[in-house]
Amino acid sequence: MKPARALCIPVILGTVRQGRMSLPVARLLASELTRRPGIETELIDIARLPLRVDDAGEATKDPTFSSVMSRADALVVVSPEYNHGYSGLLKHVLDSCLKEYVHKAVGIVGVSAGPFGGTRGIQDLVPVLRELGLVTIFWDVNFSSVQRVFDESGSLRDQAYLPRIDQFLKELVWMARTLRHGREHIALG
Ligand SMILES: Cc1cc2nc3c(=O)[nH]c(=O)nc-3n(C[C@H](O)[C@H](O)[C@H](O)COP(=O)(O)O)c2cc1C
Repeated sequence: MKPARALCIPVILGTVRQGRMSLPVARLLASELTRRPGIETELIDIARLPLRVDDAGEATKDPTFSSVMSRADALVVVSPEYNHGYSGLLKHVLDSCLKEYVHKAVGIVGVSAGPFGGTRGIQDLVPVLRELGLVTIFWDVNFSSVQRVFDESGSLRDQAYLPRIDQFLKELVWMARTLRHGREHIALG
């Protein structure tokens, strides 16, 4: 039997803020994905996208971002909490694609300085992702008081995050496989 094609699961770093603590979080998620067999990942830093802010929606589509979204089977979105919501530029980037996302899985990793691990931003992001055609999983990872979770070199201090990430990724990979099977073998209607 032909070996299954690797699942493509990029990690989107959802903020451009200087000094962002979401960066070590996104790197950790990408590294945990890399350790799993049969998965390809890459870190998409929205600060490095040629982001047009004189337009909105698919008119701002970046061909490279669009092609990674087309290839993806699932996404990990690292979403910092800003004033009890998600980052505006994260939404601006997500809004630039549409058909690329349909029937693909997504998991959200919330990041906050406060005690709630980005949950308020996550709650608001879920209906946005649903409208984009993505299928959200029922696990999140929540990094609360994130300034204490990593050391100066960006290494994880609190190992308790690893089993939570493992559970989250197991669910995401299951959903990614299931939806890939559906996209490839099950007709709509
Ligand atoms: C504009 C802005 C609003 C913020 N609002 C919140 C908030 O509502 N709740 C919270 O816990 N942290 C808040 N923070 C702190 C961020 O959650 C914190 O910086 C965290 O590290 C995640 O964001 P970062 O990746 O930009 O570092 C806010 C930060 C900024 C820049």
